[in-house]
Amino acid sequence: AATRHYEFNIKMQNVTRLCHTKSIVTVNGKFPGPRVIAREGDRLLVRVTNHVPNNITIHWHGIRQLRSGWADGPAYITQCPIQTGQSYVYNFTVVGQRGTFFWHAHISWLRSTLYGPLIILPKKNVPYPFQKPYEEIPIVFGEWFNADTEAIISQALQTGGGPNVSDAYTINGLPGPLYNCSAKDTFKLRVKPGKTYLLRMVNAALNDELFFSIANHSLTIVDADAIYVKPFETNTILITPGQTTNVLLKTKPNFPGATFLMTARPYVTGQGTFDNSTVAGILEYESPFLHSVTPLKKLPLYKPILPPLNDTSFATNFAKKLRSLATPQFPANVPQEVDKHFFFTVGLGTSPCDQNKTCQGPNGTKFAASVSNISFVQPTTALLQAHFTGQSSGVYSPDFPINPLHWFNYTGNPPNNTMVGNGTKLMVLPFNTSVELVMQDTSILGAESHPLHLHGFNFFVVGQGFGNYDPNEDPKNFNLVDPIERNTVGVPAGGWVAIRFLADNPGVWFMHCHLEVHTSWGLKMAWLVLDGKLPNQKLLPPPADLPKC
Ligand code: C2O
Repeated sequence: AATRHYEFNIKMQNVTRLCHTKSIVTVNGKFPGPRVIAREGDRLLVRVTNHVPNNITIHWHGIRQLRSGWADGPAYITQCPIQTGQSYVYNFTVVGQRGTFFWHAHISWLRSTLYGPLIILPKKNVPYPFQKPYEEIPIVFGEWFNADTEAIISQALQTGGGPNVSDAYTINGLPGPLYNCSAKDTFKLRVKPGKTYLLRMVNAALNDELFFSIANHSLTIVDADAIYVKPFETNTILITPGQTTNVLLKTKPNFPGATFLMTARPYVTGQGTFDNSTVAGILEYESPFLHSVTPLKKLPLYKPILPPLNDTSFATNFAKKLRSLATPQFPANVPQEVDKHFFFTVGLGTSPCDQNKTCQGPNGTKFAASVSNISFVQPTTALLQAHFTGQSSGVYSPDFPINPLHWFNYTGNPPNNTMVGNGTKLMVLPFNTSVELVMQDTSILGAESHPLHLHGFNFFVVGQGFGNYDPNEDPKNFNLVDPIERNTVGVPAGGWVAIRFLADNPGVWFMHCHLEVHTSWGLKMAWLVLDGKLPNQKLLPPPADLPKC
């Protein structure tokens, strides 16, 4: 295995999209940020130096960080931020993982411009469990805001209202030809006929789940969240913020000069405003006449058809088709026994307006979001440091509830007072606890799908359904054989999802909705996994350059 060094210089850069120029926070002046590549088993050393006024942290989304939680990145969870003029080296080894990941800033809304693909190739001479692709192409979805995203979220939090939505979606930073003043900023994928391409797709958008399709081409899904799946063909994929999906694209045998649109637009179930625009890129077949003097006869541009914006039945069927490969070489190690059962509710809500303020949320309240009626309060010092040094008092309390303290019918009319409290509460797990967690969408302010992301682990999605979860009946239908294994799962709108994981990674691990606005409103919590008895079951000591708060 190799050690790979990267330098991330965080600096401001002027970038123009949709005819709006703004100064954005970037890595090395690039937008989107640079591609990081390594192989399974490699060590990565990424030196991040902060040359901007904002505090910065970087998260390696989907990388388990076995015993190396200090390199995970969420601000005030595993580390204090890197302040202006400081550097920090993220030092971690990729153990037992390969596939498509991404890195992104993990503080406030800075990931709107600070993100890039993180590709972990298999070990040398280990083939993919599918046809070797002719070429591999990262396709990273993002969102472009004409306004400054830090101003958008701070204003929303001050007024209690909903933040302004984005002005465009992007593919590899480019909005494409369906927006005004954007045709020149179009992602083009030039392909040869009769070849197989591996598209490594990442949804790095702040706030929107996306449908994606390429006109007249089907896609074969082979991997989701960096786990191989039983391949299946589809015309459209659904990808939530925080998810990655690898697909094979087989090009047609003979189509010189033909062009096809690839488009993405949101899947939305909740109420409220959202950006309902469409990003497009172009798939273009190589033409033998490209350099000839005779102009090409203009071929028609084919356009894909995407599902309706709120197509929950598509989302459900799509999720059900995803199964782990579950072969001897790539087994699905689903925990068969459960030590601890948890039931969390996830959802939006409102809380009373602060004194002397007029809040723009529903009926003069302010928007809030919670897990099990607790809206998470971000501490001012990092939880992992507080835990490691034994100075947790006043920072967090180890009493996150196993069940919500106040139950109600999650698919009926919510009560007027949903009893949301604030707190920095952690769920403590002894090393190697086998966990089953059911997450129920509360449907307050409308049934809404929430992409829940867990740091430090992959989990198996053993069941999902609509309505209120029934602990007596629903487990009978759990899939404990080949469920999809992933790090971000959509909790169905008006329903629930059940996951299992083994708590074999000591540290403090954030879990949150990957819709950034919901995280900002408090839809987040953290697990504290204690050290095991053996030396190789303990969190490593913090690095000397770990930032201080
Ligand atoms: Cu992609 Cu907590 O993050």
